[in-house]
Amino acid sequence: MSESAIGQGSADFVVVANRLPVDLDRGADGTQRWTASPGGLVSALEPFLRSRKGAWVGWPGVPGVEVDPFADEGMVLYPVTLTSEDVRDYYEGFSNATLWPLYHDVVERPVFDRQWWEAYVKVNRRFAEASAEVAAGGATVWVQDYQLQLVPSMLRELRPDLRIGFFLHIPFPPVELFMQLPWRAEIVRGLIGADLVGFHRPGGAQNFLWLARTLVGLEPSRGAVGVRSRPGMMQVGNRTVRVGAFPISIDATGLDALARTKEVAERAAQVRRDLGNPRTLLLGVDRLDYTKGIDLRLQALHELLHEGRVRPEDVTFVQLATPSRERVEHYQRMRGEIEQMVGRINGEFARVGHPVVHYLHQSVNRTELAAFFSAADVMVVTPLRDGMNLVCKEYVACRHDLGGALVLSEFAGAAAELTSAFLVNPHDLDGVKNALEAAITLDPAEGRRRMRALRRQVLTHDVDRWARSFLEALGSEPVS
Ligand code: ADP
Ligand code: F6P
Repeated sequence: MSESAIGQGSADFVVVANRLPVDLDRGADGTQRWTASPGGLVSALEPFLRSRKGAWVGWPGVPGVEVDPFADEGMVLYPVTLTSEDVRDYYEGFSNATLWPLYHDVVERPVFDRQWWEAYVKVNRRFAEASAEVAAGGATVWVQDYQLQLVPSMLRELRPDLRIGFFLHIPFPPVELFMQLPWRAEIVRGLIGADLVGFHRPGGAQNFLWLARTLVGLEPSRGAVGVRSRPGMMQVGNRTVRVGAFPISIDATGLDALARTKEVAERAAQVRRDLGNPRTLLLGVDRLDYTKGIDLRLQALHELLHEGRVRPEDVTFVQLATPSRERVEHYQRMRGEIEQMVGRINGEFARVGHPVVHYLHQSVNRTELAAFFSAADVMVVTPLRDGMNLVCKEYVACRHDLGGALVLSEFAGAAAELTSAFLVNPHDLDGVKNALEAAITLDPAEGRRRMRALRRQVLTHDVDRWARSFLEALGSEPVS
C-alpha cells in the first residue's frame, strides 16, 4: 500500500486488535526496532491481512509512546497509545487478571476491580474512536478478542455505516462462570454492536446466545449452531446480529513450504546433534501462561523418569516459552514454579553435559521454530483450557515427512479437529503419562497413519478458509 493511502477515512478493511502485529522494542541505548508480537492472534491474522492490504489498529506494545501511522509490507498500521496506567489497569488488570482467568475456566481466581473496569471502558472507547477515524465509508471493521469487547457497540454509535465483525480468540466460558462478572450485561451489550459475533466452537456461540436472552432480554434463534454453518440470529433494534462458530487456523501451506526448505532441514538436524542425538526428543512451545499446562507435562515426565518408564539417557525435553505478561502476579508465581520443576528434574536425572530438560524463556523466529517442530519426535500440548491452540497445528503442518506424534489436551479447541492425536485430559496425570509413553514408543507405521490424517485436516482448513468463512458470514466477502 502506498504512503498516500495512509490517512483518515481511507481504509476499506480494518482489523482492530489490542496489539499491532509488531511491538516496538526500545534498547537501553535508545535504539528502536520493531519485532513480531507474541501470540496466536497475530500469527493467524498477519498473513491474511497482508494479502488483503488492510489497515490494523492496535497498541505498539510499550506504554506512553506516540507513533504515527506507517505502511508495513502491504498493511497500514495505526498505533493507539496506552499510558502506563492504561497498561496496568486495562491490559494487565481487567484483560489479563479478570477476563483471562474467568474465560479460562477460572484456572486462577479472577480479580474484580472497579477501577480496572473503568480503564477497560475508557481504553475500549479510544480504540473505537481510532477505528472510526481510519475506516472509509461503508468499510468492514473486524474487532478482535477479549480486550476489546465493548468496541463493537461504541464503534456502531460513532459510525452506523460500518459493517462490524467481532471474533473471540479465547474460549467463551460456561454461563455459570460468565455470570460471576459484575459487568456481564455491559459486555454482552458491547458485543451485540457487531453484525457477526464469532467464536471458535459452537458451544461458545450457544452460551453467548443464552446470555443475550437472559441478560439483555433478546430473543435469539433456538436451533443448534454449526461449525461455519447455521449461525444463531437475533434482532437488535432494526439489525440482525449473527452468532457463529469459526475455528481459527494457520498459514498451513506457508509453514509446510518453510519446513521443506534445506535451511530448516539442516537446522533441525543440527538441533538434534546439539542435544546429543537423543533417542526421543519431546517438545513444548507456548507463551509462558498458566493455562498452557507446562507444569503438568513436567510433572508427568518427572514421574515417568522416577518410575523408570522412560530412561533419562533416552529422552530430552525442550520447552520453548515466550515471556508473557510478566508483571501480572499469576504469571510471576507460575514462572517460579515451572523453573523450580525444571531444576528439580535436571537435578535428579541430568548427567554432566546432558540435561533432561532444556528450558528457554525466549521467543524464536519462524525458521528456528519450524526446525524445532521438524526435529521433535513428540509434541506435547497440554493446556487446561485453550480457545484453539495454534502450536499443535503448526507442528502438524511442518511434518511433511509424516514423522512425529502429537499429544494434545482435550481442552484445546483444536482437539475437536485433530482427533488422530493422542488426546488427553490434562487433569488426569496418569492419562498424560500413558499418552506420553504411547507417543514415545509409537510404531512408525501407526505414527504415519495418524500424522497423515492430522495433515489432511490442517492443510485443508487453513487461516484463509477461516477468515473467508467469517467474512462471508459477515457479508463482506464475495462467495466464490
Ligand atoms: P496463544 O495465542 O495463547 O499464545 P497459540 O498456540 O494459539 O496460543 O499461539 C501461539 C503462537 O505463538 C504460535 O504461533 C506459536 O508458534 C508462537 N509461539 C509460542 N511460543 C513461541 C516461542 N517460544 N517462540 C516463537 N514463537 C512462539
Ligand atoms: O489469543 C490470545 C492472545 O491473548 C491474544 O489476544 C494476544 O494478542 C496474545 O494471546 C498474546 O498475549 P499478549 O498480547 O497479552 O502478550
